[in-house]
Amino acid sequence: MTIILDGKNTANKIIEELKNKTAELTKKPKLAVILAGNNPASCIYVNNKQKKAHYIGFESVVIPLPEDVTEENILEHIFILNEDTNINAILIQLPLPKGINTQKILEAIDPVKDVDGFTSFNFGRLALGYEPYVYPCTPKGIIRLLDEYNITLAGQNVLVIGRSNIVGKPVSFMLQQRNATVTMANSYTKNLKEPALNSDIIISAAGKAGFITSEFIREGAVIVDVGINRTQNGITGDIDFISAAPKASYITPVPGGIGPMTIAMLMENTYQLFEIQRKFLI
Ligand code: GUN
Repeated sequence: MTIILDGKNTANKIIEELKNKTAELTKKPKLAVILAGNNPASCIYVNNKQKKAHYIGFESVVIPLPEDVTEENILEHIFILNEDTNINAILIQLPLPKGINTQKILEAIDPVKDVDGFTSFNFGRLALGYEPYVYPCTPKGIIRLLDEYNITLAGQNVLVIGRSNIVGKPVSFMLQQRNATVTMANSYTKNLKEPALNSDIIISAAGKAGFITSEFIREGAVIVDVGINRTQNGITGDIDFISAAPKASYITPVPGGIGPMTIAMLMENTYQLFEIQRKFLI
């Protein structure tokens, strides 16, 4: 029997816990989001993040900037947010408009306000196996969901498809920290079926709709779909759910899997940064 990894329900539980904890605070955590340009998907994501922040009782502000914004202008906004003691968490929505140096922008964030864990301070600590201030939201959401269903990571063969800084790389470090045996694949990987059929867990963040079909899946494997692909049939993941699900022991749906977990982790990270900063002031 296949069990659906219900990210929506798990995320809702986390959100409700945060809401209860936030109700007891006099001063509320505050998230700032920089949204540069008008990428339609980014606008939807940022809107969802802001709605969730307000539902929990956080304060939040979105700073919309035009598509032709300069690097200097984005950096000025980041410096102001870094200095503002009312702001606890800063998120730069990615991708940034063409011509903007993403590395330069992300590195300008004060690591203690880096809610995505994307600065080299936090990411470097993660890679070294030290504690960052916070862990990147999507990888953290993946591991939290697997933990929620008591899925073992230690000693398991895990295939991660995609080597992005947002998902593939950080999740591979987090899995190794949990004693998983991690194989990384990317679009150049030859004969993907071979590592796929040897995997207990497959995490796909390839960004290709329906790319992983049943032939890539070992009977009883755990399948985590991080893909959010906009197709003519609406939003679909990387996994061909209909063919893959019967072979899997556990599988995430799209939507309702990793997407809501990512937002819940962003909210949890905002709360954690607020608490860390509060301790600095004591
Ligand atoms: N764009 C797609 N995923 C993410 C994410 O996790 N964080 C940010 N800041 N932008 C994204």
